[in-house]
Amino acid sequence: MTRPVVLTGDRTTGPLHIGHYAGSLLNRLRFQDTHEQFLLLADTQALTDNAHTPDKVRLGVMEVALDYLAIGIDPAKTTICLQSHLPALAELSMLYLNFVTVARLERNPTIKDEIRGRGFGRDIPAGFLCYPAAQAADITAFKATVVPVGEDQAPLIEQTNEIVRRINTTAGRAVLPEAQAVIPQAGRLPGVDGKAKMSKSGGNAIALSASPDEIAAAVKAMFTDPNHLRVEDPGRVEGNVVFTYLDAFDEDRTTLEELKAQYRRGGLGDSKIKRRLEDILQALIGPTRERRTQLAKDPAYVLDVIRRGTEKARSRTETTKREVVEGLGLFML
Ligand code: TRP
Repeated sequence: MTRPVVLTGDRTTGPLHIGHYAGSLLNRLRFQDTHEQFLLLADTQALTDNAHTPDKVRLGVMEVALDYLAIGIDPAKTTICLQSHLPALAELSMLYLNFVTVARLERNPTIKDEIRGRGFGRDIPAGFLCYPAAQAADITAFKATVVPVGEDQAPLIEQTNEIVRRINTTAGRAVLPEAQAVIPQAGRLPGVDGKAKMSKSGGNAIALSASPDEIAAAVKAMFTDPNHLRVEDPGRVEGNVVFTYLDAFDEDRTTLEELKAQYRRGGLGDSKIKRRLEDILQALIGPTRERRTQLAKDPAYVLDVIRRGTEKARSRTETTKREVVEGLGLFML
């Protein structure tokens, strides 16, 4: 029996952080034993908002690949491939752009958010506005039905499925499958400063490769409850970043619930909950950082993993492209 296909990816703009881990990497670790999984090093998508810093995008490829391998993505089970070296993805993107309107692209909530966040004003790179069509190409080229992503990516999967339905309607048959986003229940992990989005550029992220000192400093500076001044005061758990992170990473749920109750009542200091979180994060990141350091000493191996993965993905995506061209009723050679 063939396994259902998983496709997901990351823009290659630098090392991944624990927000990626909670949002999607944990799910990917699970899927590699039950599904046929592809991970895309999305360098062409990274270029859509980094055209002036291509060096960052190039260097990011190795960083993200190292993160994948360090957290336990096994190249024998999961195919890691490079977006810019899969021509079928670009070709499908061009076809799909005819099945989506500019108005629909502008209405995509993720795109709207990102345009605001990046301060493009009226100077939006065309590639950026159109990347939802390219992401639809990424997903459908592998005929993926499962896409593990963070909550912010849901509108992109929705838009992918709209394109899929248009293609299938035009073809008069199901050339492409629809995909489902797999999003963690806990929702998005906020930045250490309490801002909704954790990002490296926002300076409020904890990298999966963070040093012990960086982890300690991040937890120390973490936003809690500004009104919880003395240990005896009752504190708020909601919106308290330390508890949000404990919710995401603390496996001892019983103790965690007791701590929340005690914090709400009063009598539990911030330093105690911060120490608990720091221990958990050090234990989570420590082994990953060690493996990453080892792997970084052998770039030829990492390169070989990417090369072989891209080779495998090439024939797969090429086949889908031909099926779409044929399904649309275009001339076939
Ligand atoms: N947009 C994703 C991000 O910003 C990266 C990405 C590119 C992706 N292609 C994809 C995610 C396909 C899921 C499926 O992180």
